[in-house]
Amino acid sequence: MLAFFFIIGLSFLLMASTLINMLGDYLFDVRIQGDRAGLEKWAVQAVDDLSRGSASGIDAVVRKAGAELGGRVLLLDKDGKVQSDSYQTAMGQRLHYPEVTSILISGQTADYGVHSLTSGEAVSRLNLLSFASRDEWASYSSAGIVESSHVIGVLLLISSVKEMMNSLLLLQNNMVLLFVGVALAAVIAGMVFSRVLTQPISDMTRVIKSMSKGDLGVRAQVKGSGEIRQLALAFNSMSDQLESLNQTRNQFVSNASHELKTPLATMKIMIESLIYQPDLDPELRTEFLSDVNQEINRLSSIVSDLLTLVHADSRTTRLNRERMSLAEVVKDTQHRLAPIAEQNGQEITLNLTDSCDMYADKAKLQQVVYNLMENAVKYTPQNGWVKVSLTRIGRDAILTVSDSGAGIPKENLPHVFDRFYRVDKARGRESGGTGLGLSIVQQYVNLHGGNVSVASEEGQGAVFTVELPLNKG
Ligand SMILES: Nc1ncnc2c1ncn2[C@@H]1O[C@H](COP(=O)(O)OP(=O)(O)O)[C@@H](O)[C@H]1O
Ligand SMILES: [Mg+2]
Repeated sequence: MLAFFFIIGLSFLLMASTLINMLGDYLFDVRIQGDRAGLEKWAVQAVDDLSRGSASGIDAVVRKAGAELGGRVLLLDKDGKVQSDSYQTAMGQRLHYPEVTSILISGQTADYGVHSLTSGEAVSRLNLLSFASRDEWASYSSAGIVESSHVIGVLLLISSVKEMMNSLLLLQNNMVLLFVGVALAAVIAGMVFSRVLTQPISDMTRVIKSMSKGDLGVRAQVKGSGEIRQLALAFNSMSDQLESLNQTRNQFVSNASHELKTPLATMKIMIESLIYQPDLDPELRTEFLSDVNQEINRLSSIVSDLLTLVHADSRTTRLNRERMSLAEVVKDTQHRLAPIAEQNGQEITLNLTDSCDMYADKAKLQQVVYNLMENAVKYTPQNGWVKVSLTRIGRDAILTVSDSGAGIPKENLPHVFDRFYRVDKARGRESGGTGLGLSIVQQYVNLHGGNVSVASEEGQGAVFTVELPLNKG
């Protein structure tokens, strides 16, 4: 701001002083021409009277010339002695002004100069410095009185340049005022402009600060147009994501704690009864201990599912891709689940139309297929059926797992992939489910660039469909 002022001020000063000097020069030139023309006219009229030595004639000429030219007129003889003075004060004195000697000695016909009335200093021209001193200035104009090419005297006109100086001073003052006005306007305009520019940015800075202090609910104001508006929009959408991430995380932590606390509470009750009832029936004792053991299994499966999820969560998760056949994975899984299915009197049928060779993380896809088929077996009553089909459509492998179970009510469908979500809380826990299986499925399928969806009608079983890109590597 200061530098800005300095530059503007300097250029303005330069401009103003040049202008004033030019104007001053012009005014003086006009004045010189006028004075000279007038003086030369009167010098001609004075020739006769001076050569005749007529004092009254000379006085008359000097008086008339003074009245006409508006100043003090003096007539000097060829020795520089005052013969007549319209002010009557310098009679008989010898004057050695440069304007006089230049005519009497150097032989000029006319001359001009400026004198300070206060200090007597003579200058050839007025300049800016003359303004600085508060002196009064007067212009001295002289013209030779010539009789047949002999200089016989000098006519001198002394007139104040006060009026001209005053008008120049006024001009100078006006210029200063104008400069102050322009500078002030520039500063105000600059401030307003920079405020308009920086206001949204400082607004946003405030929002970011309060956000970093933990207030995730604040949003930047979207106003104006262009980049600032884009920035505010981008920032707000980022904030939305942060807030929802934070909510999800809190929900997750509270769900996880709850899920871990339930088995712990059950175990505590059973262990306390074992401690306080030492003479417990051995059969009941064994039953309690095996219940405790089951709860421990449950806890460890929750913890391992959680670990799986957290690992899959991190953006840095790398897939251990290898050449594999999805059809083989389905067959393996059927083998693993066969004992349970047999126990339930369920039939698992496979319909594999393509081997679906792909370049993928085998362990993760095994988990995907297992979780889906296990659910189908688990949520299908005795003597039901489970069908698994695998086909290839274009560059995608399509895996569907359907069953003849109870299905999923419409209102619960959007949530089955949520962490810890179970349609029937009691039944889920009793069957050992953690509610994390489908979350893991979704996570792993997404990591492979695929997609998983569910369709179900209550009472008519469920159909889970996985689409996986056949990445051939
Ligand atoms: N094939 C299915 N038939 C009916 N309900 C299902 C099926 N698969 C999943 N569900 C419902 O979705 C919920 C979430 O499944 P999941 O994430 O695997 O958790 P878990 O199996 O541990 O309960 C299950 O609790 C169940 O209510
Ligand atoms: Mg499950």
